[in-house]
Amino acid sequence: MRLDKYLADMGCGTRSELRRRIHKGEASVDGKTVKDPGFTLKGGEEVLFAGENVSYEEKVYYMLHKPAGVISASEDKKAETVLDLIREPKRRDLFPVGRLDKDTEGLLLITNDGDLAHRLLAPGKHVDKVYEAAIDGIVTEEDVRKFSEGLVVDEMLTALPAKLEILKTETAADGNSAMENENARSFVRITIHEGKFHQIKRMFHAVGKEVIYLKRISMGPLTLDEDLAPGEYRRLTDKEIQALR
Ligand code: URA
Repeated sequence: MRLDKYLADMGCGTRSELRRRIHKGEASVDGKTVKDPGFTLKGGEEVLFAGENVSYEEKVYYMLHKPAGVISASEDKKAETVLDLIREPKRRDLFPVGRLDKDTEGLLLITNDGDLAHRLLAPGKHVDKVYEAAIDGIVTEEDVRKFSEGLVVDEMLTALPAKLEILKTETAADGNSAMENENARSFVRITIHEGKFHQIKRMFHAVGKEVIYLKRISMGPLTLDEDLAPGEYRRLTDKEIQALR
């Protein structure tokens, strides 16, 4: 691999910046200054750039607690994206695995591992995704049954059976006199095995209810780290990477 590509992949700068800085003598390979950006690395060399050791990591994995208000895309001309939240040095080949709506919070995996992303997202794989949601209105046992049987959501979407758990409901009758009955809310946990566009919002819409807050808690074996505040991220541990594979 070329030296400038190696350094660019590791987030040390753009290819043109790197070419300039390599020409200036800022890179060394196995203790010798190398001024040729096209110098070929065979693997296993010690590469230093601007005095720092730069080891090559082929695949990287981050767990992001996506906040509401940012979009799940790699780049956007106007809106802030989930990749903008990953600070430098940042590889340029990162992407989010799947999408959460702009107003949805929670677990988002960010990686450059296309094979893993494909395995997690492939429609036939049915990787479990668990969400917690606040729903406008009272979610009933009838809704639980309908979700468990699978729903015809609209002409574009038939949802597979999903597990719906009612965690709590709040109504005026709970002693909250300021709360009108039409302001009743339910807090639920829902497990789906697919990930179609606006899936959960559309499923609730199909039973006459609206999602007012949505947060993804887990995806397959990966669970959102409670120590991460919205907008924060960390590398996956080796154990988490193994579990995903
Ligand atoms: N379902 C939705 O409706 N939105 C999301 O962001 C994820 C699942």
